[in-house]
Amino acid sequence: MVASSSSKTDAANYDRASELKAFDDTRAGVKGLVDAGVAAVPPIFIQPPDDHHDKTPSKPTESPFIFPVVDLHGGDGDPVKRREVVEQIREASETWGFFQLINHGVPEAVLEEMMNGVHRFYEQDTEVKKQWYTRDLTKPFVYNTNFDLYSAPTANWRDTFYCPMAPQCPDPKDLPDICREILKEYPEQVMKLGRYLFKLLSEALGLKPDKLIDMGCAEGLSVLCHYYPACPQPELTLGTSKHADNDFLTVLLQDHIGGLQVLHQNQWIDVPPTPGALVVNIGDLLQLISNDKFISVEHRVLANKVGPRVSVACFFSTDFLPYTKLYGPIKELLSEDNPPKYKETTVRDYVLNFCAKGLDGTSALSHLRL
Ligand code: OGA
Ligand code: NI
Repeated sequence: MVASSSSKTDAANYDRASELKAFDDTRAGVKGLVDAGVAAVPPIFIQPPDDHHDKTPSKPTESPFIFPVVDLHGGDGDPVKRREVVEQIREASETWGFFQLINHGVPEAVLEEMMNGVHRFYEQDTEVKKQWYTRDLTKPFVYNTNFDLYSAPTANWRDTFYCPMAPQCPDPKDLPDICREILKEYPEQVMKLGRYLFKLLSEALGLKPDKLIDMGCAEGLSVLCHYYPACPQPELTLGTSKHADNDFLTVLLQDHIGGLQVLHQNQWIDVPPTPGALVVNIGDLLQLISNDKFISVEHRVLANKVGPRVSVACFFSTDFLPYTKLYGPIKELLSEDNPPKYKETTVRDYVLNFCAKGLDGTSALSHLRL
């Protein structure tokens, strides 16, 4: 299926629908293309010229911005330290929508084994791995490439597996044994951390510590494990297109390769890969219930000549579960000067709309804005 010539890349020159189908049918993902030795990025992955990004990410010295870092050490005991931590989280959540977390309590051995587990899954025998390939989102373990392959304007240089972990934890026999144990252990650790973060975030909003947990923000957790193979022409495509996250909160573990960028004051800023740190970001649903006090910020992942890059994104959301609870701006935050900015929505309706749209560069919150 793969057009080997990079010269014929305009839409008129190929049958995009059949190329997408043929790629999907390989059930081997982007890694399959790279394993087969593609020397050029096939047309389905090529970003339109106006979306072409700078070939080299900005060097830290060129950027006047310092990516926020929050150190959780001691925040659980000492009230002075806790106030400091809440203040740092408030500042970062209002201005960046992102921060890096250090001394978060998840043991380094668990982080390392989670990364190893993702490598093992993708780097196992392709025929065995293919058995997990599906686009059926009701499955307990969903491995595929580009969840939005047929809806997004451009495919991304990335494969992903997705696994909902809470409120119902999966039956271990439904998970690949090559990473089964760590797929139980790591999300448990992230859930513990997430519940603590939601308390700090509640306080940062001026609410009682249990408010966001009582609202159900920490009820659902899904894990997305991304694999970004090395790319022969990284300037032509993206690992993940620009998007904001479709959840309350995301906790991301990334390896040392780099490529994640956040849109801050109209500039793409690198999220420095920091060993042992976790990246935390506000999702659309937290922006909605905080009535824009906290911001869900657009981010993307560059493709890279060097790879593979691996990341593990834990999404606090009940995703597609048929829950009917409605989420709108929190009443205590509203006043005459701060009227509600959003309509109410269920998590499911919001997520279904997000997924149908795919990563098309537009916001999934805008249709809920009053
Ligand atoms: C995501 C995401 C970033 C990364 O899963 O929503 O933005 O570094 N991932 O993989
Ligand atoms: Ni994201």
